[in-house]
Amino acid sequence: MKILAISGSLRLNSTNTKLLRAIVQLAPTDVEINLYDKLGAIPPFNLDLDNENALAAVADFRSELQAADAIVVCSPEYAHGVSGVLKNALDWIVSSGEFMNKPVGIINASPRSLYAHNALIETLTVMMAIIIPEASPAVPVAGRSLDEAGILADQELATSLLNAIDALVNFTEKSDH
Ligand SMILES: Cc1cc2nc3c(=O)[nH]c(=O)nc-3n(C[C@H](O)[C@H](O)[C@H](O)COP(=O)(O)O)c2cc1C
Repeated sequence: MKILAISGSLRLNSTNTKLLRAIVQLAPTDVEINLYDKLGAIPPFNLDLDNENALAAVADFRSELQAADAIVVCSPEYAHGVSGVLKNALDWIVSSGEFMNKPVGIINASPRSLYAHNALIETLTVMMAIIIPEASPAVPVAGRSLDEAGILADQELATSLLNAIDALVNFTEKSDH
């Protein structure tokens, strides 16, 4: 099984990306989790440019989504919304539909940031993704200066992340998607 992990932050020291890197290490042996680290290359959404010559970065994002059996997303909240870079990337997928019927976990690394979390659920739901509640926990990592080793060393955090991945994997295995 292949899972694509998408961070909504481009920061080198991003908490959200570190959380996803920790998840990569928690993956069961028969599950491959790849971190998508090219969101920054996706141009500003412009419907006029969305044609058969789809821009390379957009085509790459779409093919990585297609190749994945499930997706896990972790995004910071900026000004009570989803990070612009992630929302922009998602806008390119509305017409092509790679999220349709795709099992998705949305992990909230900053439990006080509920606007972005709920907005992501709304956006991905309207794009017909299947949001798995058990794979979408709040995992309080933000503001704690933990790298992925520190996240994995914290029993409570590691257990939450493991349970989330298990839920995503179990749902995906049982479904026809
Ligand atoms: C421009 C900007 C706006 C932010 N707005 C919010 C906000 O509305 N609510 C919130 O809880 N945190 C907000 N934050 C804090 C970030 O969500 C938080 O620092 C997050 O951990 C950053 O994610 P990263 O470490 O993955 O880059 C904001 C940070 C920045 C830089």
